[in-house]
Amino acid sequence: MDKKKLTKKAGIIVDIAMYALLLIQMLIVFTGTTIHEFLGIAFFVCLIIHCIFKRWWLPSLLKKRDTKTPKPRVIFNIVTILLALSIIAMILSAMDVSRVIFPDISLIGSVDIHRYLATAVLTLGVIHGGMHFIMRAKQKKKAIILTSLAAAATLAIGLALVPYMNRHLKKVEISYSETVTGEKAQWNGGKAIVIYFTRVGNTDFEEDIDAVSGASLLRADGELMGSDELIADMLCDITGLESRAITLTGEKYPSSYNDTVSVAGKEKSDSARPEIEPIDISGYDDIILIYPLWWGDIPMPVATFLEQNDFGGKSIHLIATQGSSGYGSSTATIKSLASGAEVNEIMSIYCEDIPESRDMLLEWVKNR
Ligand SMILES: Cc1cc2nc3c(=O)[nH]c(=O)nc-3n(C[C@H](O)[C@H](O)[C@H](O)COP(=O)(O)O)c2cc1C
Repeated sequence: MDKKKLTKKAGIIVDIAMYALLLIQMLIVFTGTTIHEFLGIAFFVCLIIHCIFKRWWLPSLLKKRDTKTPKPRVIFNIVTILLALSIIAMILSAMDVSRVIFPDISLIGSVDIHRYLATAVLTLGVIHGGMHFIMRAKQKKKAIILTSLAAAATLAIGLALVPYMNRHLKKVEISYSETVTGEKAQWNGGKAIVIYFTRVGNTDFEEDIDAVSGASLLRADGELMGSDELIADMLCDITGLESRAITLTGEKYPSSYNDTVSVAGKEKSDSARPEIEPIDISGYDDIILIYPLWWGDIPMPVATFLEQNDFGGKSIHLIATQGSSGYGSSTATIKSLASGAEVNEIMSIYCEDIPESRDMLLEWVKNR
């Protein structure tokens, strides 16, 4: 094989490797942070090799031509420039996301943008590869339709994955006093208590938890905090009520988000009742129950709490945090388990809105 053909083949292999690496990196929820970051380095190496193979491209853009550049070439060049810019931005934003290889570098100051840039790179990459295919294809119309469909599907899947990835990976830093404290309002009703369940406190977090993929962490003034604990604290600050956490006495949940999802799924299908520290609610009329939606329902330790107590004559007010499923079948489950209780309308809070939900909670308390 002559040198030109060999270089072309090597170039195609590198390009395919880059697509594959990007796709695998989108699966960070399953691969974990460390593998994701090393694959990122591999992508960077492939990119350098790609640029060496295609080193003629940039000078060819600047070259003066006697004839007008054909329209498809102009479009191809625009797509390639956009692709190159988004790859550069994606690599820079990777520094902000990195927890293992570059833990102390922050260039852009936003973690979310990395996921959107990765989606842009993958979509533009599909258009870029598709245009090579269109330029060589005999049936141009078919090739254009196929490329457009592949690009639209990539964009749609990428955008749909971003909230899913945020749910698994997002690490949010807040100031406790700025987030929790503020205007007060009276709880209009009987004697009330806030009961909440959250992952922090019920999870065996590893020492180096920041490097664990899917930790989905919230830090208040640097301290690990559960999202539902934060909601409980906001509500207590607004109303002056006291709160109690539903706490496991036995085995805790694993620190990886995915593993917790598996364990929780099994608990739900087995109708398990994990043991918890008893909470005495006999002296209260109103129970404000805050819980994360797990598998479209209440976490099983919350089921234990509901079954351990007598709710006769009491009112339950529900707040569910969730990653997109509203409140699933949790209200129905609570009604069936908390026998004798009056179960009030539920408020559902999307997990990403939790740090900004104090005003909403204040309105909820005022308008009851
Ligand atoms: C085991 C598990 C299962 C989950 N299942 C769902 C679900 O079915 N639907 C949903 O919208 N969110 C789901 N989520 C997301 C949580 O409801 C959401 O992230 C919640 O705000 C986490 O609160 P926490 O940090 O206090 O535990 C699940 C989370 C976990 C850990």
